[in-house]
Amino acid sequence: MDLTALSNKLTAALAELHYGDQPTALYEPIRYIMALGGKRIRPLLTLLGAQLYTDALDVALKPALAVEVFHNFTLLHDDIMDQAPLRRGQPTVHEKWNPNVAILSGDVMLVRAYELLFDMPPALLAPMLRRFSQTAAEVCEGQQWDMNFETETEVSIDQYIDMIRLKTAVLLGFALELGARLGGGSEADAEHLRLFGEGIGVAFQLRDDLLDVYGDAATFGKRVGGDILSDKKTFLLLTAQTQANETQRAQLARHIGQPIADADAKVQAVRALYDELDIRPQTEARINHYFEDALQHLDRVSVPAARKEPLRHLALQLLERES
Ligand code: IPE
Ligand code: IPE
Ligand code: MG
Ligand code: MG
Ligand code: MG
Repeated sequence: MDLTALSNKLTAALAELHYGDQPTALYEPIRYIMALGGKRIRPLLTLLGAQLYTDALDVALKPALAVEVFHNFTLLHDDIMDQAPLRRGQPTVHEKWNPNVAILSGDVMLVRAYELLFDMPPALLAPMLRRFSQTAAEVCEGQQWDMNFETETEVSIDQYIDMIRLKTAVLLGFALELGARLGGGSEADAEHLRLFGEGIGVAFQLRDDLLDVYGDAATFGKRVGGDILSDKKTFLLLTAQTQANETQRAQLARHIGQPIADADAKVQAVRALYDELDIRPQTEARINHYFEDALQHLDRVSVPAARKEPLRHLALQLLERES
């Protein structure tokens, strides 16, 4: 199946999911966030991983949905933590309802994700549940590093890369690994696919950080400048801090880690410094570097190149994404 057919298959299956009815304040936010859609790249990765080995994709469908429900759970909690007003072009759950609702709906989504994962061949159940649990804990670790870094002044690029590997990339890696195993791929192949997913995941988060500064709010669906407002230690900020001359460093220091007087002014000032320092092309170069590195793992997966095409195609789309 091509990407459009796979995506349609996912949309149909997601629309069939039943999360629960009462109390409404627990389940309605889940239907709301899931109905807002998103790119659904993680479940696509699971199906694409399986499709490297089989055309009978149904074995991977419920587990793929599990990954997407889990991802949406992390978004509910992430938006509280980041005080984000917008998600997929609409009010975030904690804004539309309140933070307690977003916490609890998120919790039950994690439970539903586990339930969806149960539906797999018995031989894979224990190892894949173990890997999922490990991945979920790593996402939490990454999220906590991300929060810690907001108030830290000495964060290195290596620490940043490790943080985004945890909060974002490991889930893309797991999504692919899971699909590969369900499709019948060997452990060795699944490991290369996991590393490929992780590599494109790092590139994906770098792109997200870039769009947070330079994206178009209407397309991106999130508040542009949010990372600047919360002093996120992104690749963009860390690179700017290292490359700034004394005057520029002083300008940055007036905004980062300081109380915000005027939000728009802060975003504009920091973005202007990024422009002066050519941070955008440097970030794009980094994204390409991680992508190229990741491709080496895809090359080592032992299926004919033609079979890998849809996966390569999706990865390329992610590199150029605007939303
Ligand atoms: C958002 O993920 C969180 C990040 C890891 C950057 P996506 O960009 O995949 O969000 P949706 O699901 O498409 O909305
Ligand atoms: C999110 O990173 C990672 C997770 C949701 C685990 P961001 O905070 O950058 O994601 P967005 O930009 O809000 O989607
Ligand atoms: Mg966020
Ligand atoms: Mg966040
Ligand atoms: Mg972001």
